[in-house]
Amino acid sequence: MTSDSPPLLLTTERLHVTQLPSDAAARVLAYYDTNREHLGAVSPTRPATFFSTAYWRTRLAQDREDFRHDISLRLYVLPRDAPPSSAPVIGNISLTHIRRGPLQAADLGYGLDRNHTGHGFMTEALRAVCDYAFSGMGLHRLQANHLPENLKSAAVLRRLGFAVEGYARDFLLIDGHWRDHVLTSLVAPPEPGLLAGP
Ligand SMILES: CC(C)(COP(=O)(O)OP(=O)(O)OC[C@H]1O[C@@H](n2cnc3c(N)ncnc32)[C@H](O)[C@@H]1OP(=O)(O)O)[C@@H](O)C(=O)NCCC(=O)NCCS
Repeated sequence: MTSDSPPLLLTTERLHVTQLPSDAAARVLAYYDTNREHLGAVSPTRPATFFSTAYWRTRLAQDREDFRHDISLRLYVLPRDAPPSSAPVIGNISLTHIRRGPLQAADLGYGLDRNHTGHGFMTEALRAVCDYAFSGMGLHRLQANHLPENLKSAAVLRRLGFAVEGYARDFLLIDGHWRDHVLTSLVAPPEPGLLAGP
């Protein structure tokens, strides 16, 4: 993919899951601003400029470059009933620390707008992203980690077939405190595209 390539766009029954261009900065900022506490409670400390359109304009362009260099893939979840060029952002999904060679692994992260939880949107979006990671990107292993008390996140991962593999103490610095995390992973199915249904 070149920097001029069309954005990656995955389509599910109710959603678009897509890369966004720099001119979507205001929509991405609105999503993070509305969900400051909801997402902040599980996220590492953000840069001081995080809540500004200038930050997101640069960041969205950098994200496209990072995908082009096979470093990471950052996607946004949009309702499918509006065009991706104008739909509100209702979630984010990332595959970071892409490791090739004999590992073919990446770390999965995600969040959903607090007013859109409870409808299965994240499970639906992640199923498409995991399928793409295995069949489109050739990855073999996706790792996802969650706070022990984050039962909603644990349930999403369980529905997708992620298996708990361990417990890491002092794993991630959140709001100035080192927090333990449950470690889970999903490995590629024998035939990509055949991830289990709901
Ligand atoms: C983690 C998070 C994405 C989970 O959101 P969620 O809405 O519970 O997950 P889904 O969108 O997959 O929805 C599943 C829920 O919708 C319900 N649901 C309703 N209609 C559904 C449908 N058509 N299909 C599937 N599920 C449906 C499910 O029963 C489930 O509810 P339950 O957990 O009470 O049983 C959300 O809590 C969040 O953004 N948290 C903050 C950020 C975060 O924790 N990120 C992960 C860090 S590890």
